[in-house]
Amino acid sequence: MLETTSPACPMDKEPRVTQLAEKGATDATGQVEPSPEEFQARIRPFADYHEFRSWMEQLVSLYIRAYEGMEQYAYRGRRKIYKYIYWLYRGDPELFLVAWSPEGRPVGFISAHRHWQDPDLGEVGNIHEMIVDPAFHGRGIGRRLFRTVLERLCQEHARVMLWVGAENRRAREMYERQGFREVVQYDEWVKMVKDCSSGSGSS
Ligand SMILES: CC(C)(COP(=O)(O)OP(=O)(O)OC[C@H]1O[C@@H](n2cnc3c(N)ncnc32)[C@H](O)[C@@H]1OP(=O)(O)O)[C@@H](O)C(=O)NCCC(=O)NCCS
Repeated sequence: MLETTSPACPMDKEPRVTQLAEKGATDATGQVEPSPEEFQARIRPFADYHEFRSWMEQLVSLYIRAYEGMEQYAYRGRRKIYKYIYWLYRGDPELFLVAWSPEGRPVGFISAHRHWQDPDLGEVGNIHEMIVDPAFHGRGIGRRLFRTVLERLCQEHARVMLWVGAENRRAREMYERQGFREVVQYDEWVKMVKDCSSGSGSS
């Protein structure tokens, strides 16, 4: 991850493929988590910048919890994570989508930037980051966030790209099932691309 001048996400390592060194859970509110069958996250972007800012500390905590055990693919230190999440939001607020618990707090988010300039692909949609609170893993929240963003990006682009950690099997396999294919690997980062006309990705 890079500072605010360049992309800094586990999914977006390309500008710094030669310098990847700088990487890298319990509900603090004490609320009882709903059971999987009860749970249905609402997905929406932040209403505005002020709402985004008001949740910033919680988003940073959520990020840290989500990358526990996979710190090699994550920013470390609250200040760096804060700047990174700010960079994500600022790049395309409409595609910073949040999964909200029934109590109205963020339990996951996805961030994509439209009109990303990739050196090899030209202008594409780029999905930079996706995280779900571990307490809510396996309930389909990540899939819903991903499909929602993918649908939006494919309305504007023929191709969508992302970067993912090579050993992040769960995420990689999900992306493959959504129609992404590996195109190149730099060190521990894999670049994946989806051809929007291929049709897969919504099954
Ligand atoms: C990747 C992540 C966002 C998935 O969130 P989630 O809400 O748990 O995902 P879902 O419940 O929607 O499941 C996603 C896929 O993983 C599969 N899955 C669910 N639980 C699983 C498990 N324990 N092990 C392996 N795969 C699992 C699901 O079958 C689903 O696949 P499908 O959509 O093809 O059916 C979440 O694990 C996370 O925050 N990881 C840490 C951050 C990260 O790695 N982000 C991606 C950066 S590139």
